[in-house]
Amino acid sequence: MADTDDATGGTRFHPAVPARSYPFRLKGCGSLDWGMQSRLARIFRPATGRTVMLAIDHGYFQGPTTGLERVDLSIIPLLQHADALMTTRGMVRSTVPPAAGVPIVLRASGGPSVLKELSDEQLAVSMEDAARINASAVAVQVFIGGEFETQSVHNMTRLVDAGQRYGIPVLAVTAVGKELTRDARYLRLATRICAELGAHFVKTYFCTDGFDTVTAGCPVPLVLAGGKKLPELDALTMAYQAIEGGAAGVDMGRNIFQSDYPEAMIRAVGAVVHESMKPQEAYEEFVRPHTQQADGAS
Ligand code: R5P
Repeated sequence: MADTDDATGGTRFHPAVPARSYPFRLKGCGSLDWGMQSRLARIFRPATGRTVMLAIDHGYFQGPTTGLERVDLSIIPLLQHADALMTTRGMVRSTVPPAAGVPIVLRASGGPSVLKELSDEQLAVSMEDAARINASAVAVQVFIGGEFETQSVHNMTRLVDAGQRYGIPVLAVTAVGKELTRDARYLRLATRICAELGAHFVKTYFCTDGFDTVTAGCPVPLVLAGGKKLPELDALTMAYQAIEGGAAGVDMGRNIFQSDYPEAMIRAVGAVVHESMKPQEAYEEFVRPHTQQADGAS
């Protein structure tokens, strides 16, 4: 017989203590399902509400990008410093160690290569496969103002519908064609459209004037896109200004893996994002390890 004698006889009900609940305090995610909030809490550190995502998905349209020729050699050692890894299912299954424990933000759109019209993307991963991979989120490119604008928005809304069914958040990546200006007016338009149509978080570029109006006008978290490789101090300054302007983190690729010292760089970015370290101080942290190494060698 089951031992049930004491099953309901406890005294630790604490009737005077109101029930506690612990919602994940991330902009715009309070009404999401538990699974969504749980996955977002893997990507955005609960202690800071911010994230350092390492973006290495470039190969999906431009092949073996400089710095990503051998992901096994160049990227895997960096994973311990990343809050999430943005990559493709091919790279996940071939190269990312399952035991690394890094949350995956899975590239879920694709089609055209750099040789064609980039906005002509389709969905490239089913939500079922994203769940099989244990993705913490899926990412889709949205080309506001691009030739295939509507198609890319529909890719996103279909992905959001599927994500809602599985509890998997969708990251909308606002892609800016060469002919469009990355100013606050454009970025407000693009990010707001993505959020209104259901994206759970949005990746967008920085603009020097009015970035805070971009974050303010977007009801879900914004993560900063890194863009092309800059001198490290400039990249850290951009990250700092974006965080000060209300970004909930960065999703940075080339500015980390194309640095001569990627590990020092991702650590410096982490200090800016999670500790609000000033860019100059973070830069000094960045240069210290290799200056010391060089001093030791001489
Ligand atoms: C395309 O727009 C993708 O999202 C990129 O492949 C990538 O995430 C860009 O990262 P970054 O500009 O920081 O190198």
